[in-house]
Amino acid sequence: MSFKLRPANYSDCELLWKWRNEITDIKNSFNSNAIPYDSHVQWFNLNFKNPNNLFFIMEHEKVSVGQLRLEINEFSEGEIHITVDKHYRSMGIASKALFALEESIKESSINFLVAHVKPTNIASVILFIKSGFFFSRLVDFKGFSCYELKKNLL
Ligand SMILES: CC(C)(COP(=O)(O)OP(=O)(O)OC[C@H]1O[C@@H](n2cnc3c(N)ncnc32)[C@H](O)[C@@H]1OP(=O)(O)O)[C@@H](O)C(=O)NCCC(=O)NCCS
Repeated sequence: MSFKLRPANYSDCELLWKWRNEITDIKNSFNSNAIPYDSHVQWFNLNFKNPNNLFFIMEHEKVSVGQLRLEINEFSEGEIHITVDKHYRSMGIASKALFALEESIKESSINFLVAHVKPTNIASVILFIKSGFFFSRLVDFKGFSCYELKKNLL
């Protein structure tokens, strides 16, 4: 089974919008409204240019099947946002993507990976814990009580 984590490009904009608006993602995200395409394009154009935002696409058998975005903050922590297309879930793809991400940022100054996950998002909690993240604390994140899961890269 071939797998690749590649940097995203501008032509991935529409795919990212599609995944963002998938129903389970809306339920698990911190903004529960569907995003209109125009707003998404504005958001994408702004964030894609930002060097503290790294956008990746997961490819399974050369098909784009998910996205991973790393938002790097002033403490050199990389906050993870990850989505696998609903037709490709529970195949180990997100686990592979997290592993590939770590390989690709090995030489960078990022010292922690962080994920904020709603306690009801069981698939994500299991994914991160199995990938070596630990429970850091319960935090209020964008108005939701959620788990802060972290992985030390140092
Ligand atoms: C969370 C998500 C990225 C996981 O992607 P995935 O490719 O299905 O995950 P994997 O197949 O790599 O699974 C990793 C582990 O989590 C577990 N897992 C995955 N889906 C699960 C589910 N629905 N219920 C319980 N456990 C689950 C598996 O047991 C797996 O461990 P294993 O390999 O030992 O069996 C995917 O479900 C998704 O895109 N969800 C919607 C978006 C989202 O919630 N993103 C996270 C916000 S931070």
